[in-house]
Amino acid sequence: MIVASGVELRAGARLLLAEASFQVAEGDRIGLVGRNGAGKTTLAKVLSGNGQPAAGTIRRTGSVGYLPQDPRTGDLDVLALDRVLSARGLDEVREAMRKAEAQMSDPDRNVAERAIRRYGNLSDRLAVLGGYAAEAQAASLAASLGLPDRVLHQPLRTLSGGQRRRIELARILFGDSQTLLLDEPTNHLDADSIVWLRDHLKNYRGGLIVISHDVDLIEQVVNKVFYLDANRSTLDIYNVGWKAYLTQREADERRRRRERANAERQATALQAQADKMRAKATKARAAQNMQRRAERLLAGVEAERASDRVAKLRFPVPVPCGRTPLTATGLSKSYGSLEVFTDVDLAIDRGSRVVVLGLNGAGKTTLLRILAGVEKPDTGNVTPGHGLRLGYYAQEHETLDTERTVLENMRTAAPELADSEQRRVLGSFLFSGDDVDKPVGVLSGGEKTRLALALLVVSGANVLLLDEPTNNLDPASREEILAALVGFQGAIVLVTHDEGAVDALSPERVIVLPEGTEDAWSEDFADLVALA
Ligand SMILES: Nc1ncnc2c1ncn2[C@@H]1O[C@H](COP(=O)(O)OP(=O)(O)OP(=O)(O)O)[C@@H](O)[C@H]1O
Ligand SMILES: [Mg+2]
Repeated sequence: MIVASGVELRAGARLLLAEASFQVAEGDRIGLVGRNGAGKTTLAKVLSGNGQPAAGTIRRTGSVGYLPQDPRTGDLDVLALDRVLSARGLDEVREAMRKAEAQMSDPDRNVAERAIRRYGNLSDRLAVLGGYAAEAQAASLAASLGLPDRVLHQPLRTLSGGQRRRIELARILFGDSQTLLLDEPTNHLDADSIVWLRDHLKNYRGGLIVISHDVDLIEQVVNKVFYLDANRSTLDIYNVGWKAYLTQREADERRRRRERANAERQATALQAQADKMRAKATKARAAQNMQRRAERLLAGVEAERASDRVAKLRFPVPVPCGRTPLTATGLSKSYGSLEVFTDVDLAIDRGSRVVVLGLNGAGKTTLLRILAGVEKPDTGNVTPGHGLRLGYYAQEHETLDTERTVLENMRTAAPELADSEQRRVLGSFLFSGDDVDKPVGVLSGGEKTRLALALLVVSGANVLLLDEPTNNLDPASREEILAALVGFQGAIVLVTHDEGAVDALSPERVIVLPEGTEDAWSEDFADLVALA
């Protein structure tokens, strides 16, 4: 259970949340929602004990399992299975057993005998902790999240970003904590795993806070909704399910709009009165007071309006290029003994739309990385066509330099643009004023996505390689970005499990991995998208 009282959150100078009090008790399944950058991740972090509130207290009783939005990079040499088992302290026992095992054949009899005894003790201890059954349980959890057995015996270093995140999720679910805090748990999950997770969370008996832009998941899982309103820096608590929340919130917003309209009317009246009075010397002071009151009223109104907007985007006309700006032949890639794909050929025509489909781990991200030139294929070649300019959007935002600021990243991406032009583009992606001086490392998930897309926009790219570009975006930003992509005149190669995104783009061609067959798009493939 978590009890928060008078919690205040700040990010730099900005107030994210003022004075929130609430609790997360057993049986509470809370959906924490709010637009990108509202402070959801910050709140979850603080609730989990990984950060301090600016004011107020947080009391935690019982264990808390926390899945952060950004996968943390810990020790990458541990085996995936051990990482999952670490949630119950089983990994240490296993590690000690492995050491003892190695010493059991030591030529020194004393050493060997001690090791054998130690091994016996350890395996008793393993049994007490749930031992081998627990291992099987961990493996089955992992399998439900789309992780095959093989992956569990690999060190984390060799796993893809998406696989690592699924391992983290498996670890947290395996931990059996009294309270779960999950920040965007469906990022990187395939459709089957999402359905499984939904059912799992629906039946979860502890306390749960889940942050997600996946409306289906929220709708089916939660029995309460916390709405973090970035305009008002408040946490509105709705003790009802999703559908009822939507209705109630709409009513609340209508009421607030009415109040706002009233404020505006009052301000105008005050203003008019002040203007009249100013003419008389004796009333000058009263006129000034009135003027000030009117300004205060209006200031409140403006503040709300300013932050209601979403990015209005248009991608610029790409630089000209030949008929087929990008071709690849005979691409194959293996990691160790694992063959990801072999002999993939493709040709991306000017202005075409291509979707890459394939099950988890079929190598979609790898293919894009190879096309982008950040990874080398084992065999085959990527051949740039005449005038090719590539824009690559990476799933984990790895194209961003987290140490440097928003503006510095823009300068690197578009050194030829004037400072004012760089700021204008950033502004249209909702980075205004001081935001451009933030180091990229502190940006929220959705903000990082927006920045990465802004950098693509200025590049004049005529082929965009997009890896899950709609993850992390709130619904309004997602719509806006999809609309901009639809209007884009260059070619787009898209990896996504977002069916809406594929629909919007209406692709002409599809590449199915791991076979690498290229085909004309037809509705039959639509069903595959969510599975990918
Ligand atoms: N150290 C910092 N300095 C300045 N601003 C910061 C700092 N840390 C976080 N922020 C800002 O705080 C805001 C809240 O971030 P947070 O990650 O909590 O948002 P979020 O609601 O989780 O958004 P998303 O839906 O995009 O994940 C963002 O605007 C972020 O840029
Ligand atoms: Mg977040």
